[in-house]
Amino acid sequence: MSRLLGGTLERVCKAVLLLCLLHFLVAVILYFDVYAQHLAFFSRFSARGPSRALHPAASSSTNCSRPNATAPSSGLPEAPSARPGPTAPVLPPCPDSPPGLVGRLLIEFTSPMPLERVQRENPGVLLGGRYTPPDCTPAQTVAVIIPFRHREHHLRYWLHYLHPILRRQRLRYGIYVINQHGEDTFNRAKLLNVGFLEALKEDSTYNCFIFSDVDLVPMDDRNLYRCGDQPRHFAIAMDKFGFRLPYAGYFGGVSGLNKSQFLRINGFPNEYWGWGGEDDDIFNRISLAGMKISRPDIRIGRYRMIKHDRDKHNEPNPQRFTKIQNTKLTMKRDGIGSVRYQVLEVSRQPLFTNITVDIGRPPSWPPRG
Ligand SMILES: *[C@@H]1O[C@H](CO)[C@@H](O)[C@H](O)[C@H]1NC(C)=O
Ligand SMILES: *[C@@H]1O[C@H](CO)[C@@H](O)[C@H](O)[C@H]1NC(C)=O
Ligand SMILES: *[C@@H]1O[C@H](CO)[C@@H](O)[C@H](O)[C@H]1NC(C)=O
Ligand SMILES: *[C@@H]1O[C@H](CO)[C@@H](O)[C@H](O)[C@H]1NC(C)=O
Repeated sequence: MSRLLGGTLERVCKAVLLLCLLHFLVAVILYFDVYAQHLAFFSRFSARGPSRALHPAASSSTNCSRPNATAPSSGLPEAPSARPGPTAPVLPPCPDSPPGLVGRLLIEFTSPMPLERVQRENPGVLLGGRYTPPDCTPAQTVAVIIPFRHREHHLRYWLHYLHPILRRQRLRYGIYVINQHGEDTFNRAKLLNVGFLEALKEDSTYNCFIFSDVDLVPMDDRNLYRCGDQPRHFAIAMDKFGFRLPYAGYFGGVSGLNKSQFLRINGFPNEYWGWGGEDDDIFNRISLAGMKISRPDIRIGRYRMIKHDRDKHNEPNPQRFTKIQNTKLTMKRDGIGSVRYQVLEVSRQPLFTNITVDIGRPPSWPPRG
C-alpha cells in the first residue's frame, strides 16, 4: 500500500517538475518576444519625423536591424540628439556638477596677455573659439555673445580666463565677438540680438545664449555658464558694486537665456543707443512674459571688472528712464523680429569668431549733406 502511494507520489512530482520546466520555457520565449518588440518600437520612434515623410521607403523599418532611416543629411536642427551616427562613440552625459572645478579663482589684469599664450594654454579649443568636451555629451550647446568695440586688451584677458573655466565646466560652446563697425553711438542690446541670430546661422543646435560684457571675469568657476528653467543672471556680485547686487531688478553684465526664453520676450530692444537702460528693459520683458530671474549664490556669483575709462561714443543714454517705462508697449514691435543690420565680415580666429556688423545709427543722428 505504502509502495503504491510512493510510486504515485513520485509520478506526481515528476509531472509537477515537467510543468514547471514548461512554464519557465514559455516565460523565456515570451520575454524575448516582448523585448524584441520593444526594440522595434524604439527604432520606429527614432525614425519618425519629416525624414520618414520624405522617404516613404525608409518607413518599412519594422525590420529589426539598426535604424538607418535617420540619415545624417536630413537631420532636424531641433533634434540634435538624433544626430550621432551609428559609428560615433556614445559618450555618457556630462555630469550636472562637473568634477575638477576649482572654486574661487585669483583674477588679476596686470601681466600682459598675448593671444599666442592663450592659444597655447587652450589646445582643445578649435577655430572660431569652439569647444566640445572630449569625455562626455553636454545637454546644451552654449553660444557666448560679447558686444564689442575697441577693447582688444580686455578681450585677451577675458579669453585667457574664460576658456579654461568653460572647459572645466564641460560645456559645448562657441565664442562670438560682435564688433560694432564705425564710430556711431554704441548699442549693446542690438549687438546681442545680432549675436543670437548670427550664432544660430553658424550652428542651429545652439540652445543656450550667454550674453557677456568683455570686461567681466567670474571669480569662481562654480558659476556655471548654462541655461535653466528661468532666465539666468550670472554677474550678481561685481567688485565695482562692493560684491553686492546694486538693485533687485539688476540684470546687467552677464546673463543667459535659452532659445525659447529669448524668443518668448521677442529678444532684446534695438532702440537703446548709448549707455544704460537696455538691461532694465530686458528685465521688464522677462517679468512681463511671466518668467523670473534665477541667480547663483552671492558667494559664487562674484566678478572682477577690468578697469577702464568710459568709452567714447557710449555716453549715458538720456532717454533711458522714460524708455524703460514703456517696455510693455515697445516689446512687441521692437525686438529680435525687427532687428536690421548688415554683416560686413565674419572672421574665425583661433579663440573666437569675430563678426563685424553695421547696425546703423540712432534715428536722431543729424543727417549728413
Ligand atoms: C531591412 O531593410 C533593408 C533596408 O533598410 C532592406 O534592404 C531589407 O530587405 C529589409 N529586411 C527585411 C527583412 O525587411
Ligand atoms: C546606412 O546608411 C549608410 C549611408 O546612408 C550606408 O553607408 C550604410 O551602408 C547603411 N547601412 C545599412 C545597414 O543599411
Ligand atoms: C528653455 O526653458 C524653458 C523653460 O523656461 C523650457 O521649457 C524649455 O524646455 C527650455 N528649452 C531648451 C531648448 O532647453
Ligand atoms: C574684428 O574684425 C574687424 C574687421 O576686420 C577688426 O577691425 C577688429 O579689430 C577685429 N576684432 C578683433 C577683436 O579681432
